[in-house]
Amino acid sequence: MPLLVSFKGAGNALTGKYYLLILLILAFALPLALFAAERHIMKPRVPAERLAEARALSSPLPDSPDTVEEGQHLYEGKGTCFNCHGYTGNGAGPVAAELNPAPRNFHDREFWRQRTEGEIFWAIKHGVTGTSMIGFGDQLSDKEIWSILQYLRKFADE
Ligand code: HEC
Repeated sequence: MPLLVSFKGAGNALTGKYYLLILLILAFALPLALFAAERHIMKPRVPAERLAEARALSSPLPDSPDTVEEGQHLYEGKGTCFNCHGYTGNGAGPVAAELNPAPRNFHDREFWRQRTEGEIFWAIKHGVTGTSMIGFGDQLSDKEIWSILQYLRKFADE
């Protein structure tokens, strides 16, 4: 009988150890996963060799209601941006669920903190390699892209 008890005791101690291990793994895995997701957003989408050139670009357009209105018109029309990024800019457009990586959510302030307007312009014009974000340089003029960018900013203000 005492042997049985001690066996049981050993069993419990072992399970206890595993519990601790599992808890430890969970405790580390969660922040790591969050960190990885965060780093993913922070990683520039412009290729390293074009980054300096992209960051030097700045908008020639005024932040006027006319520019924003023109941008919205293109975002919801010719640009087709709403299909993936959504009418409300939250990255959940009609076809978004089928896309990996997911379309950018323009309400995410971290995104705006991590990018210059030049980088964002560059990504819209040339696209992001390896994703469904194609370059729109053929369909949209530079001026049109800058006006869309001015509209995108408004999503982050909400
Ligand atoms: C077919 C779907 C699709 C369409 C249409 C689309 N996008 Fe995207 N877009 C994406 C995806 C997916 C990403 C995320 C790419 C990534 O994570 O690297 C993205 C990312 C972006 C980014 C972020 C780039 C960065 O530096 O992180 C911007 C800005 C953007 N899109 C603007 C636009 C604009 C403006 C239009 C319309 C002219 C548009 N997109 C149309 C799918 C789309």
